[in-house]
Amino acid sequence: MVRLESVFKSFGEFTAVNNVSLAVPAGEFLTLLGPSGCGKTTTLRMIAGFEQPSSGDIFIGNEKVNGVPPYQRDVNTVFQNYALFPHLTVFDNIAFGLKLKKLSQEEISSRVSWALDLVKLSGLEDRRPRQLSGGQQQRVALARAIVCRPRVLLLDEPLGALDLKLRKAMQIELKSLQRQLDMTFIYVTHDQEEALTMSDRIGVMNGGVLDQIDTAATVYEKPKTKFVAEFIGEANLLKARVVDSAAPATWLDLQGLRLPAPYSPEAKSGQDVWLLVRPENIRVLPLNEQDALSEISATSGSAELIGVLQHIVYMGATLKVIVALQDGSKITAARLAGSSVTAIAPGTPVKLIWPTSVGHVIVR
Ligand SMILES: Nc1ncnc2c1ncn2[C@@H]1O[C@H](COP(=O)(O)OP(=O)(O)O)[C@@H](O)[C@H]1O
Ligand SMILES: [Mg+2]
Repeated sequence: MVRLESVFKSFGEFTAVNNVSLAVPAGEFLTLLGPSGCGKTTTLRMIAGFEQPSSGDIFIGNEKVNGVPPYQRDVNTVFQNYALFPHLTVFDNIAFGLKLKKLSQEEISSRVSWALDLVKLSGLEDRRPRQLSGGQQQRVALARAIVCRPRVLLLDEPLGALDLKLRKAMQIELKSLQRQLDMTFIYVTHDQEEALTMSDRIGVMNGGVLDQIDTAATVYEKPKTKFVAEFIGEANLLKARVVDSAAPATWLDLQGLRLPAPYSPEAKSGQDVWLLVRPENIRVLPLNEQDALSEISATSGSAELIGVLQHIVYMGATLKVIVALQDGSKITAARLAGSSVTAIAPGTPVKLIWPTSVGHVIVR
């Protein structure tokens, strides 16, 4: 439905979007995720037609749209600031685009009620934007964007101005609306939790570059870069050196200990890499007396490290367990509240264990 081929966008000397290629199938909910300034809005504006690429091509449907003005593209945009007309009623705000299309009065009324119903605003058609809450204004902006039934809806941080609770409720609603309409959504946010909640796939951007585009589970479990690993969720990134890499395992040297990791075809012997282990995969056990440091042995099925428990942070449903390794670096383990780890006193030597299969080697 939407395709970008080697798209670049420069502002003077500065490259805001750097060689982005992606393809969005019809009906997909794709999120572009990344920190402020990474080029998300610029990418969206090029799809909408408000900006032209410096080079590269953009396709909507099968049509190349380079140079096609926004109003001739079958897309609509929802902006963070809503951009409602303050002097028009809710009805007239939503009807605006339909009136431009010169549809009949009955057609306009029936489409506006359809859209109002979808965003759960029926009954408020005579209000003006200032008589609505922020959340209601956002719904009007959404209704206005979907009322023309564009093939693609572009959403640029549309929930950014709402409070946390409302934002979370709207995330669920947006996702179900997208399914109901079977419309292609391209959604931009800097909020990783928002991206994980709603998306079929997530494209992670870093300094104008699309680092990775994959399902939520894949970007979380198998990030391609250190940046993606750190941007999504909490990451323990252990600096290690590849000792030996042949399927089914890549063996690493970490501070003199040999650790197994799932085989990484990109990892070459002698190379410096990071081993990613997510906190929820790490178990923390008291160190038995027979577990002398030098004798900690790893089998290919599980990886083990030794450290000293520093503190346990109560997070409600979970506990965050901070453990210091020999070199002073810290590892975070997440355990469920009520875990036996609470019986371990700070300052006690502990053993960290995780199944080899949950580790992930990152080479860049
Ligand atoms: N019209 C413009 N002129 C010059 N620089 C711009 C313009 N629009 C965006 N930029 C720059 O491009 C970079 C990416 O911006 P943007 O796409 O808005 O990022 P994001 O939406 O990810 O926060 C930023 O450094 C921004 O300052
Ligand atoms: Mg932006």
